[in-house]
Amino acid sequence: MLRLTVVFGLLATAYAQYGQNATLDNYIAAQYNISLAGAIQNIGGMNNSIVGDGPSPGAVLASPSTVNPNYFYTWTRDSALTYLMITDELIFGTEKVGNNSLQVAAEYYTAAQAFLQTVTNPSGTFWPAGEGLGEPKFYSNLTRFNDAWGRPQNDGPAFRATTFMEIAEAIYQRNPNAPRLVAQYYWPLILADLNYVGQYWNTSSYDPWEEVNGNSFFSTTAQYRALISGSVWAERLNQTCKPCEQAPEIACFLKNNFWNETGNYLLANINANQVNRSQIGTDPLLGSIHAFDINATCDATSMQPCNSRVLATHKVVVDSFRNLYPINDNATAPSAVAVGRYPEDTYYGGNPWYITTLVCAEVLYDAAAQFRKNGTITVDNTSLAFFQDIYPDAKVGNYSDSATLANYTNAMIKYADGFVQVVEKYTPANGTLNEQINKTTGEPTSAIALTWSFAAFVTAAERRAGKYPPSWGATSDYASNVTSNCSASSYNATYSYVPAYADLAPNISMPLCMKEVLFICNYSTKPGTNIYIVGDNELLGGSLSLDPPIEVLRPGNITADYPWWNTPVWFNASTTVEYKWVLQNQTAMTFAYENMTRTVDVGQCDGEVQRVLDSPAFPSPN
Ligand code: NOJ
Ligand code: NOJ
Repeated sequence: MLRLTVVFGLLATAYAQYGQNATLDNYIAAQYNISLAGAIQNIGGMNNSIVGDGPSPGAVLASPSTVNPNYFYTWTRDSALTYLMITDELIFGTEKVGNNSLQVAAEYYTAAQAFLQTVTNPSGTFWPAGEGLGEPKFYSNLTRFNDAWGRPQNDGPAFRATTFMEIAEAIYQRNPNAPRLVAQYYWPLILADLNYVGQYWNTSSYDPWEEVNGNSFFSTTAQYRALISGSVWAERLNQTCKPCEQAPEIACFLKNNFWNETGNYLLANINANQVNRSQIGTDPLLGSIHAFDINATCDATSMQPCNSRVLATHKVVVDSFRNLYPINDNATAPSAVAVGRYPEDTYYGGNPWYITTLVCAEVLYDAAAQFRKNGTITVDNTSLAFFQDIYPDAKVGNYSDSATLANYTNAMIKYADGFVQVVEKYTPANGTLNEQINKTTGEPTSAIALTWSFAAFVTAAERRAGKYPPSWGATSDYASNVTSNCSASSYNATYSYVPAYADLAPNISMPLCMKEVLFICNYSTKPGTNIYIVGDNELLGGSLSLDPPIEVLRPGNITADYPWWNTPVWFNASTTVEYKWVLQNQTAMTFAYENMTRTVDVGQCDGEVQRVLDSPAFPSPN
């Protein structure tokens, strides 16, 4: 009798391990290799690159697709997340993929980004106020992209800084001269992006899906991690990181502003321009896998995968897709289903994505690992419904006995595996992962061979296999500091942005006396129309008749019926600039230039913003 109890006890405590589902294990092993190779193949300068001669070495293409959609560009976000994955592979011991050395790949990326940081673009300049760092995408030959776009996107610099700190970690682990090298080559690159994060975390920008202007949980989490890691690295390298002092404020903001108590989920965006959306979305889940630190506790911050709010969000998000996509066939929990970005999505008809289905698995692999590591699991009123879906006996409580811990975490891993099986079901035989899965036919759709889809598969497979990235500082003293009354603070880094010369950033001229002019256009646009500005200064395109115009303005101060377009531009102080407003009809692709030429006398560099408010009348489009 006694012996049997012991045996059953042992059986009950055994954690679900890999190798239990041979079919799935085989699929994952093969798809992992295909995905890693697939990501590398989309990077310029790599052997066997499928993207030809166009992209510069180290430029990560979003996808080789050139039409429907044209993704032959390099996005700061996609690139950094891909290189974070590549760098973690290096840390886990993968030296080469095919005949590409991952270390060489990282060096290419370093040089490409040091250059890109300094490229003037429609979001602005690098000097003096860093606004150009918020530009979401560039041509793959590292030149500026001038068309209208959802810009700026403030997650980019945060992800890039984090990725360079991960590269620094990889170097540290293999090179005894690391502190000197890292300080010389990587710290300037990192600090430029951290300056941007400290200066702008608190302003609105576009979300990861490039649609919503507001504050995104995903982007804010990326900013938080970057600044905490920045503090840790500054200490390691004997440097200072002033912008990093914003981290306790960001922690406060994340904790207090994104939780929807009634709906029991984390909001994807707040302060947003889209009022008709539930803000249910996979963004918080993507934020939490980025914040994942195997050593973190579940309650210290609100964004670890094992946090109750994140698990509650998992349920709400997944449930929102169960009856939405025909391929999901109204499947109820504990069945996994195909998951999209957010339920109201209409892009390409609104479909499930590989990235967002995989994140539903990865969050649970991470969370289960954290519960096991901590040796305890807490089920509270927030997370109860999530747990009851996958483990009907779930009840509110704290469980540290190994049998109960195993029951809960095994159920989580089984559920997680279900999402990978959904991906398997809709993956073509050659293993190519597109951006989306047609919600009705299950056929892969939208951009082919999406780099981020491949990267998402690799990270999910790593976590399932128990491979966890090094701690980024989630348990450091820096992270224990959370402001209790949030304030709208920021770090003024203007004039502190220094190019990463050691990584061959160009020697851009950095005048010390500049003036910020805020051009504001009092003109009520309809959807499908944009306002541009052209001028004789090179920052406005260099010509009053430039066609098409390049400096698209950002919508700002939007009220329900009155958008004021505005853009800040830093000019040399005490100069004169001639300019014109231009109205674009996006559908007809026509531009109407003002007949008159306007002049602004740029004032002295007194630190004040010079506002220029015009109410143009436009002729009929050309
Ligand atoms: C809308 C999509 O939702 C977004 O993700 C995409 O990047 C842009 N359009 C541009 O194609
Ligand atoms: C559209 C996605 O919404 C965005 O997040 C991504 O950066 C681009 N496609 C490129 O993959």
